[in-house]
Amino acid sequence: MVDIHCHILPELDDGADSLETALAMARCAVADGITTIVATPHYNVHWCVHSGRVRASIVMLRNALHEAGIPLHVLPGNEVRLDEVRDVLHDLDTDAFCTLADKRRYVLLEQPWTAYATHTLDVVAQLQERGIRAIVPHPERHGFFREHVHLLQTIIDAGAWLQVTADSLLGNNGNVVQTAAWDFIDRGWAHVIATDAHNIKRAPALATASRLIAERIGAQKVEDMWKRTEHVIA
Ligand SMILES: [Fe+2]
Repeated sequence: MVDIHCHILPELDDGADSLETALAMARCAVADGITTIVATPHYNVHWCVHSGRVRASIVMLRNALHEAGIPLHVLPGNEVRLDEVRDVLHDLDTDAFCTLADKRRYVLLEQPWTAYATHTLDVVAQLQERGIRAIVPHPERHGFFREHVHLLQTIIDAGAWLQVTADSLLGNNGNVVQTAAWDFIDRGWAHVIATDAHNIKRAPALATASRLIAERIGAQKVEDMWKRTEHVIA
């Protein structure tokens, strides 16, 4: 399995706080059946991890994984927030952040936590003009999406994908979030799933989430999810 959303790179944001933690997260991921992680440190007003730092950290972590004998492949990425103060398109064109797997085909495009970013559809459309698809992480965790689900329909209609977080499906982000996460699965809106892991407090749960989704909506739909995820790094 491929995890396209994970804060495994050490000491860059609120994810892994040391190389030891990063290696421990890597071991947990391998135990869950994950073969590749796209590392997605934050790119927002609080933690603005630029592409150069992401790529340097990837090289460092690859070496450490090799030395530790951990069979995990790591690829660069960012979780890019639609902050008012940032011009995502300008920052994309100046290579300020990493697209997923550095392929310039998918961007993990996060909403602010305070309110829906009203320029979302414009950014999604402008990314598409550049041949890039936006993937919106953890919509189930945003209150404005839970209360106004039509916003998600317009985002999907504009060509974006949604990434539901495995922990949300398992109830580790609370009942309200869990209900919304399964509602999005039932609606066929969860194009991909990922861990959004920040530490080792919880083991990644992609295998368990996959099984539960298959039981609910069928193995074929889950296979489609993983095909999309594979395409992100292809
Ligand atoms: Fe994240």
